[in-house]
Amino acid sequence: MDEVLERGHETETRDTDMKIVIIGGTGLIGSKVVAQLREQGQDAVAAAPNTGVDSITGEGLAEALEGAAVVVDVANSPSFEPAAVLDFFTTSTTNLLEAERAAGVEHHVALTIVGTNRPQDIPYFAGKVAQEKLIREAGVSFTLVHATQFFEFLGSIADISTEGTTVRLPGALMQPMAAEDVATAVARAAAGSPRGDIEIAGPEQLGLDEFVRRTLAFREDARTVERDDTATYYGAHVAERTLVPVEGAEIFPTTLQEWLPLNPPPAR
Ligand SMILES: NC(=O)c1ccc[n+]([C@@H]2O[C@H](COP(=O)([O-])OP(=O)(O)OC[C@H]3O[C@@H](n4cnc5c(N)ncnc54)[C@H](OP(=O)(O)O)[C@@H]3O)[C@@H](O)[C@H]2O)c1
Repeated sequence: MDEVLERGHETETRDTDMKIVIIGGTGLIGSKVVAQLREQGQDAVAAAPNTGVDSITGEGLAEALEGAAVVVDVANSPSFEPAAVLDFFTTSTTNLLEAERAAGVEHHVALTIVGTNRPQDIPYFAGKVAQEKLIREAGVSFTLVHATQFFEFLGSIADISTEGTTVRLPGALMQPMAAEDVATAVARAAAGSPRGDIEIAGPEQLGLDEFVRRTLAFREDARTVERDDTATYYGAHVAERTLVPVEGAEIFPTTLQEWLPLNPPPAR
């Protein structure tokens, strides 16, 4: 069945009722992608260890992918230790691509990060670079959605950068976005034709320190945020423009000021 969608000045035709398997479909982004695709009339299947599908051991993969037209990979490593991240994305992606070949899946969609293709040495990014390389070299039709940071993680960025009552962060620019908007982009990619590499971002570009300062101020958090360009971001020094998107990136509308009141911090 086809559905004609009107979006701004764009009109596109999408298939509905496709079987789309979302690996990591119970996670922050995955659960939102599953919900959005189901609302659009797709047969979206959430796959994760607690639904009996494990992309590391291969358990349940062949069964889950039977009859699937599209696989969306939004799984994440349970450990953020650099070697574990690299191992997770390498093993998981290798297993997924092999199972997709066997099942005749037509389109592989994966969520990755803006900046992985620029000079940087952020340890977590090494796992995503390895994942992207495997996908590009697999000969499958793919869409790699490069997203900026999620608003949902500004609180934990503050926490890992806190000493006493001071949060030290570099002024490197970022253009973060809401997880719901990320899910919209991923769901759109899953229902559409393969597009290769695309970048998505939020509407505002400011320093890392400033986004965290605004978040803590809104939450009446007593910590002070100090700009310190020698401070690290997830274990690495980042250049001014490493984390911001290229010209032509798709910009999503939700601002931090709109998002904050709707998203109180998790209880400590
Ligand atoms: N953080 C950022 O700012 C950012 C920016 C751009 C892109 N990303 C990317 O966004 C993606 C999704 O992140 P997220 O925050 O939504 O992750 P998340 O909430 O931690 O969810 C991870 C999902 O992966 C599943 N999973 C873990 N191990 C698995 C395995 N062996 N087999 C199958 N599924 C497995 C989890 O299932 P269980 O719940 O059963 O464990 C869960 O559904 C990641 O690839 C990340 O790299 C993040």
